[in-house]
Amino acid sequence: MSLVPYVPTPESIIKKILQLANVTSDDVVYDLGCGDGRVVITAAKYFGAKAKGIEIRRDLVEEARQRVAKEGLQDKVEIIEGDIRSTPIHDATVVYMYLLTSVNEKLKTKLQSELKPGTRIISLDFEIPGWNPVKRVHIWDGYRYRSVYFYVIGKSDK
Ligand SMILES: C[S@@+](CC[C@H](N)C(=O)[O-])C[C@H]1O[C@@H](n2cnc3c(N)ncnc32)[C@H](O)[C@@H]1O
Repeated sequence: MSLVPYVPTPESIIKKILQLANVTSDDVVYDLGCGDGRVVITAAKYFGAKAKGIEIRRDLVEEARQRVAKEGLQDKVEIIEGDIRSTPIHDATVVYMYLLTSVNEKLKTKLQSELKPGTRIISLDFEIPGWNPVKRVHIWDGYRYRSVYFYVIGKSDK
């Protein structure tokens, strides 16, 4: 079941967000609801990370896979067709989410039970209710300021 409509993260802010999360080639970056794959592609292409996108809409899964192939990033980026509530994310070191506050609330138990201490979580525009961000940054996307919340498992979720 789709929990959130497709609205892409503006390309203008993706690199900045990943920089602020200190993404490196040691990371495994997940995008929960990855749309056309732009965040996972950027993480692999510019930061050398391994990246996995989970997406429920078949048309977006196909579009994302085509973009990954066009960039020649098949060895670094995997697009998984599935529901973010039931797809395992244990190997993540960074999790990106552009969802809704209500969906973040529903995902809290999953994030806490599957992610290792120290895993960074980034949420665009929407907080994880009840968790303490390690930082909150305002980024200009060319039209308006966007809030980006950064959390760390073991620190933010107490
Ligand atoms: C706001 S869009 C963000 C897209 C992408 N993360 C980005 O930032 O460009 C949310 C995405 O989540 C997907 N989605 C919604 N419910 C989902 C679910 N239950 N499992 C997997 N993906 C889902 C939507 O199809 C959509 O592509």
